[in-house]
Amino acid sequence: MIETVRFDNDAVVVLDQSKLPGEVHFHRCHTPEEVAQAIRSMKVRGAPLIGVVAAFGLALSMLRYQGPVSGMDTYFEYNRDLLASTRPTAVNLFWALKRMEKLYRYEKRAGLQQVASRLLEEAQCMYEEDIAVNRAIGANGEALLAADSRIMTICNAGHLATCGYGTALGVIRAACARNKVNMVWACETRPVLQGARLTVWELMQDNIPVTLITDNMAGYTMKLGKVDAVIVGADRIAANGDTANKIGTFSLAVLAKYHKIPFYVAAPLSTVDISLPDGEAITIEERSQDEVRCCAATYLTVPEVEVFNPAFDLTPHNLISGIITEGGVIKAPFAEELQRLKEGR
Ligand code: MRU
Repeated sequence: MIETVRFDNDAVVVLDQSKLPGEVHFHRCHTPEEVAQAIRSMKVRGAPLIGVVAAFGLALSMLRYQGPVSGMDTYFEYNRDLLASTRPTAVNLFWALKRMEKLYRYEKRAGLQQVASRLLEEAQCMYEEDIAVNRAIGANGEALLAADSRIMTICNAGHLATCGYGTALGVIRAACARNKVNMVWACETRPVLQGARLTVWELMQDNIPVTLITDNMAGYTMKLGKVDAVIVGADRIAANGDTANKIGTFSLAVLAKYHKIPFYVAAPLSTVDISLPDGEAITIEERSQDEVRCCAATYLTVPEVEVFNPAFDLTPHNLISGIITEGGVIKAPFAEELQRLKEGR
């Protein structure tokens, strides 16, 4: 499948997801500012992917640095903060930047050239690790699904949101390889339409059966008995299992509970933020009002109307049937097992 990010000849090259499915276009970022802008404007999106793209951006900054050795730290910190300021909710971004900083502090004595090339290697290593982790999530999650499953998802937690294979869609891919998938119900995911534009495109590329619904059709589709499981991704999971994910996830979880349908979150352990006891402290990004007012640059409403546009919501842990990670499937109560896996025990 298509590469979502690569480092090529002094540029971070990202698949421009804002143009999908109409156009497959690769956007070259030559500076850390351009990398930050690609994340902010959602040319690249999805928690694991923005972490790795930011890591490449930080490596790029040091490869381009031409100032004195005495200014290296200030320059590194400036670019770290620039990349960290792009999107607030997905913890993978901060996790990746912290990992890069740790390496920078350790390697900087060896000189600029050495530290820059080690940072690039580390970003490449994160890229490869992400794919391996997603495959493990897929294998662990697939076992939860029965033959002929009909699975509902929201947003895009797929290949496109990661370095490859995907988290929620990774589980679906693994289940599909075992002929267990009858249908994927893709919620369109207003206002940015990641479900309609990206999930549908990605699944159809792989010949995985998919049906598109608008977000407000989810409850009725469940009521008709057409959904066996809901699987979503995550942007940040607090220590008790509370999960921030794309806006609309919470509604699906409530609907799933009402209809007695299992509701799973699939995410790498890098998405778990053990420093937060519960989800209340997670910053929920609010995006431009025009994302809701417009569709494809055309106003759907009165241009002056006031809009509330939270990009994510919070699903309380008691609505989650299981958290699928590379370390295994965690069932409630989540806290102890999340902590154990996070600490690598
Ligand atoms: O705003 P986005 O498109 O970056 O939001 C993405 C999601 O909410 C995904 O479900 C989440 O990041 C997990 S991606 C594997």
